[in-house]
Amino acid sequence: MPQTFAKNANIWARLILWGGLGGLIIYTTTSWAVFQSSWATGEDRVLEQPVPFSHEHHVAGVGLDCRYCHTTFETSRFAGLPPSETCLHCHAHLYPDAPYLAPVRDSFRTGEPVAWQRVNDLPDFVYFDHSAHVAAGVGCETCHGRVDRMPLMAQGAPLTMAWCVDCHEAPWAHLRPPDAVTEMGWTAPGGDAVAYGRRLAAERGIAPDTSCSTCHR
Ligand code: HEC
Ligand code: HEC
Ligand code: HEC
Ligand code: HEC
Ligand code: HEC
Repeated sequence: MPQTFAKNANIWARLILWGGLGGLIIYTTTSWAVFQSSWATGEDRVLEQPVPFSHEHHVAGVGLDCRYCHTTFETSRFAGLPPSETCLHCHAHLYPDAPYLAPVRDSFRTGEPVAWQRVNDLPDFVYFDHSAHVAAGVGCETCHGRVDRMPLMAQGAPLTMAWCVDCHEAPWAHLRPPDAVTEMGWTAPGGDAVAYGRRLAAERGIAPDTSCSTCHR
């Protein structure tokens, strides 16, 4: 007999081979799923903060615009965090002795910023610029989610390279007039966001780049 293995062994070998292949496929698809999942990207993750600051209360409740606290997104790469003085515009009078605002009062007294934990954090080899996006009419909501519904800040998007590049290839559905960038729940007039965005992009010459050096420089 030319066969090296008995018939049974042959069946076992096939089972192991196909089982192994199946297992490999399951393994790669699950690791891809995990790699893509919010658990891996950090999307929706909430970090513990030194003060339980609520965007929901201050944006939807008190009605403050993002610009009241994030003052540099129109002019620089960074949106910036507010100094404790900004909080004390109100909290010098409102809850002036609340223990949960002690880190803000201490910070004002010592000049040391409140030690907020970074929620959105790209690796250092990625170049990002707020002012370029805001000037082009990409809303805060598109990348940070419904901040006005967040009792505690959470990462609102995957922030993966594929996520950046997908929009750079076809930004149309995500463009709005630049004066509406801080608005939450904005919708395109007429209901066709793609057609509206295409028109805005044509009028204003908006064409994001997908070359590597745009984001890695
Ligand atoms: C009253 C001040 C105030 C207003 C108004 C405000 N923010 Fe904030 N924002 C903060 C503070 C303080 C932090 C840091 C603490 C935290 O992460 O919750 C912060 C954090 C953030 C972060 C996360 C920063 C990081 O670590 O990655 C984003 C995104 C953000 N704000 C977006 C917005 C948007 C969008 C608006 C308008 C819809 C807005 N904020 C309005 C004070 C404010
Ligand atoms: C324009 C006035 C104003 C400013 C500026 C302001 N707050 Fe408030 N804050 C309020 C009001 C009003 C409430 C009560 C909101 C409620 O209960 O709905 C509040 C509530 C709070 C609370 C209690 C928990 C909560 O959200 O109800 C914390 C903590 C707080 N603010 C932190 C901050 C910090 C930190 C800053 C600066 C980054 C800040 N606030 C800036 C008006 C302000
Ligand atoms: C195209 C996506 C995009 C848009 C639009 C955008 N952000 Fe961001 N934002 C990011 C990313 C990505 C980071 C993290 C940057 C890093 O780690 O270098 C970030 C970081 C921040 C931070 C942390 C501090 C800082 O400056 O890095 C704040 C606050 C913030 N954004 C607020 C805003 C506000 C307010 C708006 C609207 C006016 C806005 N962002 C629009 C993607 C965006
Ligand atoms: C929702 C759409 C969208 C997302 C998401 C997005 N971008 Fe952009 N990006 C744009 C648009 C629109 C422009 C402006 C193009 C123009 O003005 O022609 C732009 C411009 C840029 C620029 C050029 C800035 C300059 O100096 O000219 C850089 C860098 C950039 N994006 C990096 C990133 C990175 C990194 C990410 C992911 C973390 C990202 N973008 C995510 C839409 C997006
Ligand atoms: C629009 C922005 C953007 C462009 C264009 C872009 N990248 Fe990236 N790249 C990113 C971001 C954001 C990350 C970080 C992703 C993360 O942390 O999950 C990244 C990560 C990477 C990494 C690290 C490995 C990884 O996947 O996390 C490599 C390598 C890389 N990019 C190479 C490239 C090359 C090569 C090109 C051109 C073909 C390119 N990138 C174009 C935004 C961009």
